[in-house]
Amino acid sequence: KLPTKVTIKEVGPRDGLQNEPNFIETKEKVDWINRLSKTGLSYIEVSSFVHPKWIPQLADSEEVLKSIKREAGVTYAALVPNIRGLERAFNCHVDEISVFMSASEGHNKSNINKSIDETFPVLKEVVDEAKKADLKVRGYVSTVIACPYDGPVAPEQVLKVVDRLAEMGVYEISLGDTIGVGVPTQVESLLETLLKHFPPQLFAMHFHDTRGTALANVVKSLEMGITTFDSSTGGLGGCPYAKGASGNVATEDLNYLLTAMNIETGVNPEALIDSAFFIEEKIGKKLISKQLEIARNE
Ligand code: HMG
Ligand code: MG
Repeated sequence: KLPTKVTIKEVGPRDGLQNEPNFIETKEKVDWINRLSKTGLSYIEVSSFVHPKWIPQLADSEEVLKSIKREAGVTYAALVPNIRGLERAFNCHVDEISVFMSASEGHNKSNINKSIDETFPVLKEVVDEAKKADLKVRGYVSTVIACPYDGPVAPEQVLKVVDRLAEMGVYEISLGDTIGVGVPTQVESLLETLLKHFPPQLFAMHFHDTRGTALANVVKSLEMGITTFDSSTGGLGGCPYAKGASGNVATEDLNYLLTAMNIETGVNPEALIDSAFFIEEKIGKKLISKQLEIARNE
């Protein structure tokens, strides 16, 4: 039985902009986030408190968080890799943070410069300190289907990392198909493994659409009880430390699919398209999604 309601978590300002070759001006980021805030989205991941040398595109995270106009009912979140990142986040009133790591050694090392075992205590410290300050923490696990360095990743390997994050007390775990290789049969076996141990409410799915399989994977996930999905307006996105990774599933395409399946999202499709065209102009590159293509031709 399909869910009647789904939460869309917009990650475009973070996942989308971190992968753009050019720095988008702070004011433009802020304008975009302010527009996204009026689309009915309830959650926007606005930036990252990672090392600015590693992700220069988001070096202005403090400024962005201090400048956005917050709408009631919208959660403004950001990525935090370590205590240094958490201190920066504390400085600018973020509603919620996400810690992140990978299910595979190769990507974990390339992305955050540590082995998987070395990462757990770093994240635990962040989760403990955040909770002391009453800040909610979400966890990401990347490369849940395959790793750009190590190849296929077994569901049991994902389970090991999920177990540890759940034990730390993150309220939700977003499962990332970082390089967009997954297909529904793989999503099914991954979720079958995880759902033997955890309820579907613990998970969000984070599909990159490199090979056009993201929406098929969303449908499979819905059938298995998942009710939270990450996406980027305009299909922006990718991880600079995962070669070949391209954009997230486009929020406007995800929203179309869900709404047409009579699943409530609360997101206004026209406002979403407008905000996609806004950032497309600022980025100066044609954004690719089916809904944008339709809107261009109207
Ligand atoms: P490191 O170089 O190993 O860090 O980087 P370190 O702890 O050895 O510290 C070195 C220096 O950096 C120190 O300064 C620290 O203070 C400073 P020094 O003492 O030498 O002057 N430093 C920082 N400065 C500012 N903010 C910080 C910070 N941390 C240390 N937070 C680190 C380790 C994790 C910081 C680095 O590897 C990094 O920033 N990585 C982030 C990479 C990234 O953002 N990737 C993309 C996001 S993940 C993703 O896209 C996947 C996802 O979308 C899901 C999916 O699709 O699968 C979430
Ligand atoms: Mg991603």
